Amino acid sequence: MTDDNSTEELSWKEKNELDKIIKSVENPKYQKIELLQKTQEKYQWLQDGHMRYLADSTKVSYMDLFGIATFYTQFKLHPPGRHKISVCMGTGCHVKGGKKILEKLKDILEIDVEETTEDRRFSLEQVRFLGCCGLAPVINIDGETFGRVSTKEIEGILNEFK
Ligand code: FES
Repeated sequence: MTDDNSTEELSWKEKNELDKIIKSVENPKYQKIELLQKTQEKYQWLQDGHMRYLADSTKVSYMDLFGIATFYTQFKLHPPGRHKISVCMGTGCHVKGGKKILEKLKDILEIDVEETTEDRRFSLEQVRFLGCCGLAPVINIDGETFGRVSTKEIEGILNEFK
């Protein structure tokens, strides 16, 4: 297998940060999820070069790490957008049309859940609870809550986030 994605392009700083993460995990060979979680916490997503460096440095197979990263939805394999949109799909929001809101967002942004628009302006995720069921259906963008949202309002709301 050829290795086009070597870890050589990582900066000294990145390698140093990844070394710190490895050291912070008691037994990286067996705590691969924790290793990936901490890396994602630091960089917001799992970059291929980072996973290869982790694999090389811990003697864990890269395919193992990649397999875990693709299996668990908590891991992101693409860089996040500048603005994170969370759509609540809890029961309260679901019965008030949360699904329609989500579909409308997917249509406008031309992405699926857990994806980022090509211009990296928006990332889209669905969550189970946003804590304000009285305002259902609810979406949250960068921590700002929008309640009783209708599909007609979505485009206007998105325009507020450049
Ligand atoms: S169900 Fe969405 S905020 Fe409660």
